[in-house]
Amino acid sequence: MNNPLSITDKARQIVNGTSFRRDNSAIGQFLTPVSIAQFMSSLFEKNIEHVRILDAGAGGGVLLAASVQELCSREIKPKSIEVIAFETDENILPYLNNTVDTCRNACNQYGIDFNATVLNEDFISASLSQLDDGLFAPKERRFTHAILNPPYKKINGQTKTRKLLNSAGMETSNLYSAFVWLAARLLEPAGELVFITPRSFCNGPYFRNFRKALLELMSLRRIHIFESRKKAFADNAVLQENVIFHCVKNEPQSKYVQVSVSEGLDFNNSTIREVPFKHIVFPHDSDAFIHIILNDEDNQALERMSRFKTTLDDLGLDVSTGRVVDFRMREYLRSKPELGTAPLLYPCHFKDGYVKWPISNGKKPNAIVLSNQTQDLMVASGYYVLTKRFSSKEERRRIVSVIFDPQRVKATFIGFENHLNYYHAVGNSMSPDLAKGLSLFLNSTLCDKYFRLFSGHTQVNATDLRKMRYPSRQELVKLGKYVKKTMPKQETIDSILKSECYKNG
Ligand SMILES: C[S@@+](CC[C@H](N)C(=O)[O-])C[C@H]1O[C@@H](n2cnc3c(N)ncnc32)[C@H](O)[C@@H]1O
Repeated sequence: MNNPLSITDKARQIVNGTSFRRDNSAIGQFLTPVSIAQFMSSLFEKNIEHVRILDAGAGGGVLLAASVQELCSREIKPKSIEVIAFETDENILPYLNNTVDTCRNACNQYGIDFNATVLNEDFISASLSQLDDGLFAPKERRFTHAILNPPYKKINGQTKTRKLLNSAGMETSNLYSAFVWLAARLLEPAGELVFITPRSFCNGPYFRNFRKALLELMSLRRIHIFESRKKAFADNAVLQENVIFHCVKNEPQSKYVQVSVSEGLDFNNSTIREVPFKHIVFPHDSDAFIHIILNDEDNQALERMSRFKTTLDDLGLDVSTGRVVDFRMREYLRSKPELGTAPLLYPCHFKDGYVKWPISNGKKPNAIVLSNQTQDLMVASGYYVLTKRFSSKEERRRIVSVIFDPQRVKATFIGFENHLNYYHAVGNSMSPDLAKGLSLFLNSTLCDKYFRLFSGHTQVNATDLRKMRYPSRQELVKLGKYVKKTMPKQETIDSILKSECYKNG
């Protein structure tokens, strides 16, 4: 008798190539390791008599094989399993067909009816045409299970795919969110969805519609993320940017969601927590950010941050991304300041809590020519708070902030390069103490921890900063008094924040 435990391995073996998802793939084809596929399929909760599985972007079929294997090896087995697999890459189809045959054999041996359709079609257009039928779509077209590791690729605004999606009310800019969204719509009520995708959909404006639709259609049951302290694991960094979700359609959202974390692929030693859903998606959050809370420290960060209620608007502040995109302005860039130029600031000018300008021997220019072409990109000199937009993986903090002090850099205008975000009093300078206090707050461990709860990547968008809540103006000004010639050390920042803002816990 065929050992069902071999189905997934076989599916994996027949496809050569072992690399997991990376962003630079032309077709987003990175295949799921067997252990992840098995873990994902183990999340399916229900035992259904007549199973209908969707695998969209099936590759070599490892996910559908793992699902069949999982269901076949349960005590209560299904009577029938039907699999629909979409895959556009013709080269991988023979492998996919081979996997399907392995599944058929295994099901035969268990006396389970098996049917499979491999469709060499674009999942998006094919499924949108099914959804056209809306309520009147024949019941057999819906799925009881969907399991996905969808392609990861931007959908250009002008493409047919984007237009098709928009006309179905599904505005989203990446193939992966489009696939998951469609799969959710194609499930029958109580149908289960398990997917692995980048974490990037959990925050930020581009995935807002997707998040809202997902949370409206589905009840969240489990979130799994990967962590690793071992640098040796090759796909480590890639894995850590991914998340696995398990959701059930049209069921009321339960009060608690299971959040688990594994050290790389070691699922047996995962730690699991029950986290209140209201801590994951805050009630009344119109952007529906998804916060991933892993441990007591995360919870504490969330609780401490929830004391701060002040919005940037309340503070009379806003945050913007630096307007000088250097490669578009090449002819105006100068390595050293000259007559008729303004300081041009990059992250390399961050030093001890302040902007240090100019710097010599740097790779970046220090100045930009003031002209009709550049004037609109300039900001009048004053006190501003800057943050890096991109931190390196090795950097301890995601949010790295400094103060722009006009006493230290003499200029009438300054240019902030696009790799920076800058806080301003709606286009103007803010008070020195407010700038210092805000920068201290942004540099705190608390702020950093909080930021990591909703952002899985190293990019810090102005929208994320705009969304955060801050200490009151009074508190920030008090914090600012502690910032002298340099930004205090990390422990000092943290104890200042504690003593001024949350003494009792
Ligand atoms: C990230 S890979 C995952 C493959 C497989 N599900 C796995 O987990 O190993 C995504 C797959 O989607 C396929 N794909 C890309 N665009 C597609 C589309 N529009 N319709 C169907 N499949 C597509 C790619 O060829 C690729 O095999």
